[in-house]
Amino acid sequence: MENHAACYEQAEAQPQEQDLLKIIDRQKLPRHIAIIMDGNGRWAQKRGLPRSFGHRAGVESLKEIVNICCELKIEVLTVYGFSTENWNRPRVEVENLMNLLVEFLNVEIEELCKKGVRVNPIGIWEELPQLARETLAMAAQRSRDNCGLILNLALNYGGRLEITEAVRAIVSAVEEGRLKASRIDLQTVADHLYTAGQPDPDLLIRTSGDFRISNFLLWQLAYTEIWLTNEFWPDFRRRHLLSALVDYQRRERRFGGLKNQ
Ligand code: FPP
Repeated sequence: MENHAACYEQAEAQPQEQDLLKIIDRQKLPRHIAIIMDGNGRWAQKRGLPRSFGHRAGVESLKEIVNICCELKIEVLTVYGFSTENWNRPRVEVENLMNLLVEFLNVEIEELCKKGVRVNPIGIWEELPQLARETLAMAAQRSRDNCGLILNLALNYGGRLEITEAVRAIVSAVEEGRLKASRIDLQTVADHLYTAGQPDPDLLIRTSGDFRISNFLLWQLAYTEIWLTNEFWPDFRRRHLLSALVDYQRRERRFGGLKNQ
C-alpha cells in the first residue's frame, strides 16, 4: 500500500505536457498500452450529476488518448469498455453505454480512419444489442485496411471467458486431428486469444485509485508494467498518459530474468 501511495505521488508531481514530451524517449515507447478506464460514475457523482454524464465525459478522454497514441505511433491500444460483469448494472446504464458506443463510432469513424486507426472489437461483442453490434461491425469493416493504431475495444469482454474460449478451440482442433496435444505450447494459447498476432501489453493503466485487474487481459498481462493513478477516467488527459510513459521508461523490465542479462 505504502509503495503504491508513493507511486501516485511521484506520478502526480510530473511536469506538464511540453516538458514530458521533451523527456520521452521515442525509441523506448510501449508497443501496446492497455487501459482500465475506471471512475466515470464517481466523477459524475462528485459533481452531483447522473452517472451517464460521467460516461459521456469518459468518451472525451478516450478520444484524446487515441489521438496521442496515434501521434506517438503506438501500435496497439486496448481499452476496457464493457466487461462481461457490467451486465449486472441497471438496465438504463447499460443502454446508455451502448448508445454512447454507437454515437462514438458513428461520429468518429471518419476521423479515426483519417488517422489510420483500425477499430478491432474484442470480447463476445456479437452478443451486444443489435445496433451496437452492427455499428461495431461497420467500424471494423471501414477501418480494416488501416495500418496505424490498432484500437482494441474490449466489449462484453472477460479474461477468464477469453481463455476458456481459447481452450475450447484448442480442444476442438485436437479432437478433429488438426493439432497434437503434445504440440500445445504457450504460443498455441496466445494464438487463440482475441489479441492473436499482437504484442502483449507493455503498460497497463488503471484510473481512479483501485488496485485490481478486474478480469482484464489475464493471460496477456503476465509481464506488463502497471501504472495507477487516482484521477477519474474523465479527468485523464494527454499529460497523464505522458506521465505514465515517463514512469514506464524509468522501469527495468526483467521478465523474470536478471538485470542486464
Ligand atoms: C468504469 O467506470 C467505466 C465503464 C464501465 C465504461 C467505460 C466507458 C467509457 C469510458 C465510455 C466510452 C464507451 C465505450 C463503450 C467505448 P465506472 O462507471 O465503473 O465508474 P465508478 O467505478 O466510479 O462507478
